[in-house]
Amino acid sequence: MKQDFTLSSFKDFEDIPGFDIYQRAGAHKGYLDYLRDNEFMNYRLLATSGCGPEIELAETGYIKKGSYISFVCNDYLGFTQHIRVKEAVIDGIEKYGCGAGASPLIGGYFDYHKQLEDKLSAFFKREKGSSIVYTTGYTSNSATLLSLLKKEDIAIVDMAVHASVYEGISGTTTKRFLHNNLDALERILIQAKDKFRTKMVIIDGVYSQDGDMARLKEIQELTHHYGGILLVDDAHGIGVIGASGRGAMEYFDVMDKVDIITGTFSKTFGNVGGYVIADPRLISYLQFQSRQYAFSAAATPAIAGVSKAIDLIDEEPHWQKQLQENIIYYKKGLLELGLDIGTTESAIIPVKIGDVKKNSEAGKLLLENGVYTNPIMYPAVSLKDSRIRMSLMATHTREHLDKALNVFEYVSKKLDIACR
Ligand SMILES: Cc1ncc(COP(=O)(O)O)c(C=O)c1O
Repeated sequence: MKQDFTLSSFKDFEDIPGFDIYQRAGAHKGYLDYLRDNEFMNYRLLATSGCGPEIELAETGYIKKGSYISFVCNDYLGFTQHIRVKEAVIDGIEKYGCGAGASPLIGGYFDYHKQLEDKLSAFFKREKGSSIVYTTGYTSNSATLLSLLKKEDIAIVDMAVHASVYEGISGTTTKRFLHNNLDALERILIQAKDKFRTKMVIIDGVYSQDGDMARLKEIQELTHHYGGILLVDDAHGIGVIGASGRGAMEYFDVMDKVDIITGTFSKTFGNVGGYVIADPRLISYLQFQSRQYAFSAAATPAIAGVSKAIDLIDEEPHWQKQLQENIIYYKKGLLELGLDIGTTESAIIPVKIGDVKKNSEAGKLLLENGVYTNPIMYPAVSLKDSRIRMSLMATHTREHLDKALNVFEYVSKKLDIACR
């Protein structure tokens, strides 16, 4: 008899009691086959053009070869394709070659790394020596937290933080508080008083699924009032939020009050890698004690593109302005269709559908009609919070947005997903 996978999710296959690795992988494959057979396989679609507001997809299974309007790139300002960013990457490779060849401690630390660190420190208005560069945003969180927080410490995390944070706090005491709930946070801070060496509150500046912002100012005040340390991951805020694109910290005027800032180069900076901004004593500790930094090869010379992207945030503010105009226009259009876009305040636009099956159907219909989005389901969000997730870019044109809105109108009628 065929297994019913209708309510299954990837989480169900992380561990299955009594199944060895091949049995578990076999069960997992059954789920993948179910997704493919029902044309719900919106993951790992094969693209044949670069990241951008339009993307070419290859023919795979039921996916038709062709050009799609894309809302899946977190390249908010379009810098993956910016001519000056590309030139900087090419110059970096021409001068230094393709790889760093070693970890930073044993021969893989080059002046293009130092230049980027100095730019990051200056960008966040900190003294030199306040930043470290990792090869992914994921490890900026996971590796930093793993090396800083031990058994005698406590991590107090907003329940909506990114998976990389959860990995980072696996070796310390952990308490989660309801998303953006100040009372819940304060209760934990009071309970934790005098019981732990380090109390670290960990939040995102902009949350990756709802696109809403942290109540950053109040959280900063509470954290410091109770003697805690505040870490903010602003992966989705930099380049998008704040008068000069310095993220949620700038918006809430707490740039100099956040103890540790983490972020990624894979979104606004149009590259790959991540960073941590903190007191130089912590940075120097991470350089030697953070295992994923010390025992792993350093970023490639292509990272020179990030140094250029940092310059462009200040030199070409029109990208951020254009992105904001797109956000306003697109949100208005979706709201006029009666769709539920939740509480987003950023370039991440969810259309909340709730029902898992309808959500998959919506993703499929959008794709069939030339609009490429991400249907998000459990465990990324709770079952009842299934949604279509979109990232807006400065380089989406009105034509792209209007076409997508037309398709949403059709999908909404067909699946009856409008909330009013
Ligand atoms: C909030 C947040 N933090 C960290 C990361 C990890 O960044 P990277 O893609 O550079 O590993 C992501 C990526 O999606 C994210 O959304």
